[in-house]
Amino acid sequence: MNAFAGKRIVLGVTGGIAAYKAAELSRLLVKAGATVDVVLTQAGSEFVGAMTFQALTGRPVWQTLWNDRMSHGMAHIDLTRGAAAVLIAPATANVLAKLAHGVCDDLLSILCLARDCPLLVAPAMNRQMWEHPATQRNMALLSRDGVKILGPASGDQACGEVGEGRMLEAKTLFDELYTFFQPKSLAGKRVLLTAGPTFEPIDPVRGLTNSSSGKMGFALAQACAEAGATVTMIAGPVALPTPRNVQRVDVQTSAQMREAVLQNLPGQNVFIGVAAVADYRPKVVSTEKIKKNGEPMTLVLEATSDILGEIAARPDAPFCVGFAAESQNLETYAESKRKAKNLALVVGNLVQDGLGGETNRVTLFDATGAYPLPSAKKIIVARGIVAHLASLMEKLDGKPCGKPRANS
Ligand code: C5P
Repeated sequence: MNAFAGKRIVLGVTGGIAAYKAAELSRLLVKAGATVDVVLTQAGSEFVGAMTFQALTGRPVWQTLWNDRMSHGMAHIDLTRGAAAVLIAPATANVLAKLAHGVCDDLLSILCLARDCPLLVAPAMNRQMWEHPATQRNMALLSRDGVKILGPASGDQACGEVGEGRMLEAKTLFDELYTFFQPKSLAGKRVLLTAGPTFEPIDPVRGLTNSSSGKMGFALAQACAEAGATVTMIAGPVALPTPRNVQRVDVQTSAQMREAVLQNLPGQNVFIGVAAVADYRPKVVSTEKIKKNGEPMTLVLEATSDILGEIAARPDAPFCVGFAAESQNLETYAESKRKAKNLALVVGNLVQDGLGGETNRVTLFDATGAYPLPSAKKIIVARGIVAHLASLMEKLDGKPCGKPRANS
């Protein structure tokens, strides 16, 4: 993935034990195509040496104001010119205090004051230091100045205490930075989506389910959040981690999923049905475990409600997106599903291309035609779907399900 191609990141590393995570972060960024200029403070270099960062980034590390590497230029000015962002990770209580008050007494603090690009900080410190009113005051000042604060996380600390103040993991910071650069095509929009399978009980220990992994739905929730939407995800039984900035509601059955969708529907701009919802459930659920007796057995099923169909048919329907996982005749089935359920957009895929795996190949069907996306990791596909969805919403002026509003 060349997600950072063409981007130069100034990575500030200050004196905290989490500096070791900055080494991994610089590696991830370089791998994703970024050019990384590390600025290491004196205290930072006590934890990780400049040679480590030089080897990982393939570029010289900046440690002092006093050098002539910039030829006739000045490092504290020139390093941020043309940079996509400055990210300080780890950011100690000391550097945060300096930045909040405009103190500039070393290369990193000076270039932050002289920068003309966004600044992101990943605080890392002992929990008492983080909770101290002085630090909290400084964080409020930095927020007000438009500095983007990433974390901190909560958990075990290097000092042996447990609490808030741990720096976010390198991969999380990488994802946060990626999200920061994403066009906010769904800014101000509220998205509700369903994901994963459902589980319909037969008796207290058995049930009917399907092989949906939930990966596509979770990736789509992540992509919507990256695009600036407020996302609520109603998830069937899967053990996947919740994407950052996504509110998750866990359910088991299709009836619970429908209930949760209806409860969360008011105020939503978009509804995306990604879940593989059961079409049938046992008509009677036995309260006791069913005993075998060697005879054939008949399970009587009843139809469940079609959640997406029901939402799309409402007069106050949000912009509705459906999925069509088919084993054949994708175009015909997906198009007829789009029309039958009155959807603005249907994401179609052949089950053999996506179910359970890490990648997917989908085609997007809307009223103007069919748009195939290349086969890719599910998160990449999800970002492609979000880009199409956002531009379609703009074209249709947010009209629900692609229909003109009654009063227009
Ligand atoms: O009609 P079919 O099940 O093929 O349609 C699939 C689409 O409808 C998916 O978007 C799925 O999430 C949604 N669906 C639903 N409730 C159901 C069945 C399917 O929301 N009971």
